Amino acid sequence: MRFPQYRPRRLRKNEIFRKMIRETHLSPDDLVLPLFVRPGKQMRQPISSMPGHFQISIDLLVKEVEEAKSLGIPGVILFGIPEKKDEMGTEAYAENGIIQRAVRAIKEKVEGILIITDVCLCEYTSHGHCGVVRDGKILNDETLDLLCRQALSHVKAGADIVAPSDMMDGRIGAIRRTLDENRFEDVPILAYAAKFASSFYGPFRVAAESKPQFGDRKSYQMDPANGDEALREVRLDIEEGADMVMVKPALPYLDIIYRVKQTFNIPLAAYSVSGEFALIQAASQLGWVDGEQVIMESLIAIKRAGADLILTYFAKEAARKLAKSYE
Ligand code: PBG
Repeated sequence: MRFPQYRPRRLRKNEIFRKMIRETHLSPDDLVLPLFVRPGKQMRQPISSMPGHFQISIDLLVKEVEEAKSLGIPGVILFGIPEKKDEMGTEAYAENGIIQRAVRAIKEKVEGILIITDVCLCEYTSHGHCGVVRDGKILNDETLDLLCRQALSHVKAGADIVAPSDMMDGRIGAIRRTLDENRFEDVPILAYAAKFASSFYGPFRVAAESKPQFGDRKSYQMDPANGDEALREVRLDIEEGADMVMVKPALPYLDIIYRVKQTFNIPLAAYSVSGEFALIQAASQLGWVDGEQVIMESLIAIKRAGADLILTYFAKEAARKLAKSYE
């Protein structure tokens, strides 16, 4: 038999060849940095489950956003730890809630970076669920009104994009209508469209102090076993007016990212969640993997699968590394 004509190794000979035929490229433009904001001044409280990340007060948050901008990161997404939590999550939609104040402070000082806000009640409710609870049930339609008020209050404070992560049915349409009725028709919605009931959120719930006090989130977040249903969820959110959709988590759900991109061809975000961060960070600190390489490989894999945008706790590290490789 003749030796094969095609020798793939010819084009792998050295980095210049590899660079020339590389199919997927990562840029700081693809990254969004999640940040946790808490009350207080000069506070930078380490998050035990996420080494290298902090709950930060608004004054320091502004500096953090400036740093992200200087690294070429186009957006941050904010999560709030409120002064106090209650049954209805009132600080979620209070004019002077933690997120509303944070957004105003950033908008006063920093230009040229997008502020995305997470719209959900779980960080603000005493029971830790993403919706209104009655008789142990998470009520869907009663929750929509509160989510609309929350989204509107974020946008009034100056948020550039709102990102509902609660997984209640019909919330994208309800929020879109509310924003439109209030003359915010040009503020986009990034829908957490296919959000799975994942154990990879564990470290985040420590960071945001938002662990459900009873039960779990399986009656509203998706079953990890379902791919077709993820496409139905995404379709619904697009029909209701989502401008961008998200798949979450990212690495264990690359098939979903791929299918959503192939099917809908709409701007697609992937959230590489706290548990993905924690696995890489822990193994790297133990010296079991080369952290920097694993981070870059993971991000390129998520992008290759079809994500246009990656929310990642490694955004700053990755942006720094990318800057170095352009030098
Ligand atoms: C709020 C929300 C969660 C995350 C983002 N928004 C937690 C949850 O649904 O329990 C998780 C992000 C992460 O793990 O990094 N609903």
